[in-house]
Amino acid sequence: MASDALRLDKAVSHSFDVPRSHATALIKQGRVLVNGEIRTKAADKILLTDTLEIDGYESVAQDAFAKRYFMLNKPSGFVCADSDNNFPIVLNLFGEEPHRDELHCVGRLDADTTGLLLVTDDGQFNHKITSPKYNVTKTYHVACERDLSERDVKAFAKGLRHPEEKQRYKSAVLEILDPKEALVTVTEGRFHEVKRLFECINNTVTELSRIRIGRLELDKELEEGEYRELTPTELELVFADNQD
Ligand code: URA
Repeated sequence: MASDALRLDKAVSHSFDVPRSHATALIKQGRVLVNGEIRTKAADKILLTDTLEIDGYESVAQDAFAKRYFMLNKPSGFVCADSDNNFPIVLNLFGEEPHRDELHCVGRLDADTTGLLLVTDDGQFNHKITSPKYNVTKTYHVACERDLSERDVKAFAKGLRHPEEKQRYKSAVLEILDPKEALVTVTEGRFHEVKRLFECINNTVTELSRIRIGRLELDKELEEGEYRELTPTELELVFADNQD
């Protein structure tokens, strides 16, 4: 947070997972104690380190404002958007999380793409992963229609040009696993990037799944649609190759 001071009603709302209007009512009713003292003004400023208490239940404001970082195994058929008229949104899978409306997908995977998706309420972290400036690599497992060749590997490394786009794609790594299967690592994160790269070599992606961001791998224990919090070590793995 930019500052350590925050409004009491906001702190109560976050710490006890109640709407802001309910927090205001609780404060006015004299049920909210800050460091043991009753406070009745919703606009009062408190510190992140202050202890809040309501009806005997305690919470340290800071804990409620800690940033949250999740790894999701994204299922097909869900979109990475805050709302959508046609498809369910990924954030529906986080229905049980408090303050779900503050969570956002880190970048976008297409509706039919599966695999590793990070979800967070930390805007700076989100920007660092999605901005091409930071060169965070994203690796995908790809199945495609036609056989791949060493020529394709070289073309990916050189940087491909799509007939419908002005800007050439940055160099990408194509690792052939089987004639119609490969790993692709990109850093740009352009719209439909992997599918577009395959169009550049007259091929078509039939299945796409993200397996890695930086050095962070998708937890194979997670079924599609399941998620869990990242550990501090895993958070570091995202930027392990990008120390600036
Ligand atoms: N590239 C794509 O084409 N689609 C995705 O979902 C991710 C990368």
